[in-house]
Amino acid sequence: MTDHIRFSAPGRVNLIGEHTDYNQGFALPIALPDRTTVTLRPDDGDTLVVTSDREEGEVAVALHTAPGDVTGWAAYVAGVVWALRSSGHRVRGGTMHVTSRVDVGSGLSSSAALECAVLGALATAADLHVDRTDLARIAQRAENDYVGAPTGLMDQLASLCGEPSHALLIDFHDDGVELVPFDPAAAGVALLLINSHAPHRHAGGEYAARRASCERAAAALGVGSLRQVQEHGVTVLDGVPDPVDARRAKHILTENDRVADAVSALGRGDFVAVGRLFDASHASMRDDFEITTDHIDLIADTAVAAGALGARMTGGGFGGCVIALVEVDRCDAVADTVRQTVLRAGYHPATVTLTHAGAGARLEQPLR
Ligand code: GLA
Repeated sequence: MTDHIRFSAPGRVNLIGEHTDYNQGFALPIALPDRTTVTLRPDDGDTLVVTSDREEGEVAVALHTAPGDVTGWAAYVAGVVWALRSSGHRVRGGTMHVTSRVDVGSGLSSSAALECAVLGALATAADLHVDRTDLARIAQRAENDYVGAPTGLMDQLASLCGEPSHALLIDFHDDGVELVPFDPAAAGVALLLINSHAPHRHAGGEYAARRASCERAAAALGVGSLRQVQEHGVTVLDGVPDPVDARRAKHILTENDRVADAVSALGRGDFVAVGRLFDASHASMRDDFEITTDHIDLIADTAVAAGALGARMTGGGFGGCVIALVEVDRCDAVADTVRQTVLRAGYHPATVTLTHAGAGARLEQPLR
């Protein structure tokens, strides 16, 4: 007999396809091995009392919570309660403890990991049968409408649908997910995760500004989303009067093509080509979408100069992490050079780890 449920969900790294999700484009994330775990002891009360290994004290979330009631880290928990209930689902009260190994503020989707772990635990407690795409949409609603960050659906889908040794090709036109084998180690290549420790923020204005730019560009072309002009190529953007909006849209169209090219290259086991696509994606985020920083550019450029097959910032931007594909025997040299160069430039020390595609959200301990 156990009186509790344990449910875990991972953070994610996006291999390629950045800011494409809210433009109905394509992305190619993996779930990370690092996870957030929620232990829920359900009861029949009308409150969820939440604690976390990272925060002092406890937060009482009323089951009839509404946006604005709870702020700070527990807003993600309250947001899931609210989004589940406003989608017509039953939510049980109880006590909930959160532990996490996903770095916060590093662009690794600690928020999606938290939302999806909470969602899984609450759905299990109430015996709800909701498919993973709908669960992802509920978690996204929590983030968009309760927390107030206007993010797309990639992080939640990656956290819920991840599979070991696979990337997820997501088509945001219909939110379909296709598994793409991703096992660089089998080809003697490592995926390095370089954390700049420069915090990034989504609720901040820049993410919303990029989103608004893309929406204006689509509207100028008379379509609902940039996806609808994808097959016309970038010359269609001559019809976007604002040069900044046109450049933002150019990133989206070229990035969608790079996702398709990366999937083909992975199919051939050609990590040299994937590396070049990483570089091109980074350049597009730097020059056209303008979401990188000098610090992040230095990390990506240094990794490539030191012998990486390619490197790019991953996630929403303005800080966070760079990923690099590196032949295994060059990993130490690349990691050392990046760490030293960053220190010499006066930035916060970078952390370099090896990572791989891990499992998606799962029930660790059922209620019995
Ligand atoms: C953040 C958002 C995602 C996505 C990425 C950029 O992680 O949460 O929805 O837009 O940025 O690709």
